[in-house]
Amino acid sequence: MKTLTLQAPDGVSTIVEALATGEPVALPTETVYGLAADALSPNACAKIFEAKNRPLSDPLIVHIPSIDWLPRLTSPTPTALQLAEKYWPGPLTMVLPRQPIVPDIVTAGQETVAIRMSAHPLFQEVATAFGKPLAAPSANRFGRISPTSAAHVLAELDGRIPFILDGGPCAHGIESTIVHVSEEGLRILREGPITREDLRAFAPLLDDSIAVSAPGGLKSHYAPRTPLVLEKNPTPRSKKTGLLAFSAPREGFAQTEILSATSDLREAAANLYGAMRRLDEAGLDLIVAEEIPESGIGAAIMERLRKAAAR
Ligand code: TXA
Ligand code: MG
Repeated sequence: MKTLTLQAPDGVSTIVEALATGEPVALPTETVYGLAADALSPNACAKIFEAKNRPLSDPLIVHIPSIDWLPRLTSPTPTALQLAEKYWPGPLTMVLPRQPIVPDIVTAGQETVAIRMSAHPLFQEVATAFGKPLAAPSANRFGRISPTSAAHVLAELDGRIPFILDGGPCAHGIESTIVHVSEEGLRILREGPITREDLRAFAPLLDDSIAVSAPGGLKSHYAPRTPLVLEKNPTPRSKKTGLLAFSAPREGFAQTEILSATSDLREAAANLYGAMRRLDEAGLDLIVAEEIPESGIGAAIMERLRKAAAR
């Protein structure tokens, strides 16, 4: 299969047609690129798993075109409705009890479904034209770094999917916050752009060490091929050690990527995966990542770095 990268607005109709025939296509979102397919078609969803080499035990996030789909796919609690009102469209995914209409392949047979509404204008345009929910995991091969540009998607899935819609670089650069919503409170399953502090205003935060089954909670994930270690004060170990620095370079590294010269955590998040990819492609034998402040979105960045380091 040949993979074509399409530009908007011309490419949009081709993308919507491909979705309608049950093909998976890569779309930009405000977090990372997603590999989208018709969420109500088990066959279309199966092609997502195939293209990504993703185990069927790992459920998909469903992206809805409009809020009226929320009660059609889930049983939303009052808190869920408040969170949707505040953060959608945007980088928040809610895990809620599913309705029977949601295919088993989407939920990996669980009784919950993960739902979000993307704020990316091109994603919204495609979802609205398609008129149905889209299942979309990040558009990388399983276990690898999420793509934040159309070129990254091509590097991951060339020959495995028909189309990529190019929407430029992703604004947030890391995946959405995932929160399990219940009557008892909120359980954060994945840190992201909507922070712990943001969510605490809505309901009590429950202990997230008690894992609700979330395979993305696997200890190792988001991994470059080059071994990566996380340190407070990075030092080079060899002539081929690379540095993933927060804001300033250090002596003695073969290659350095700086996440934000002004120590801006949002900028650092947006640059994280691209920087990891460049270091991974540089022929290094080790990447040393510098620990970053764990406030606000810094917690989400550190969660990704810990998982990249866990092997
Ligand atoms: O920002 C994002 O969320 C991106 C964009 C494309 O929307 N999507 C994304 O999807 O990161 P994915 O599949 O790479 O990560 C979703 C995570 C997976 O780790 C999956 O295990 C978890 O969400 N998940 C999905 N459904 C779940 C459920 N019902 N209960 C618990 N975890 C769930
Ligand atoms: Mg992913």
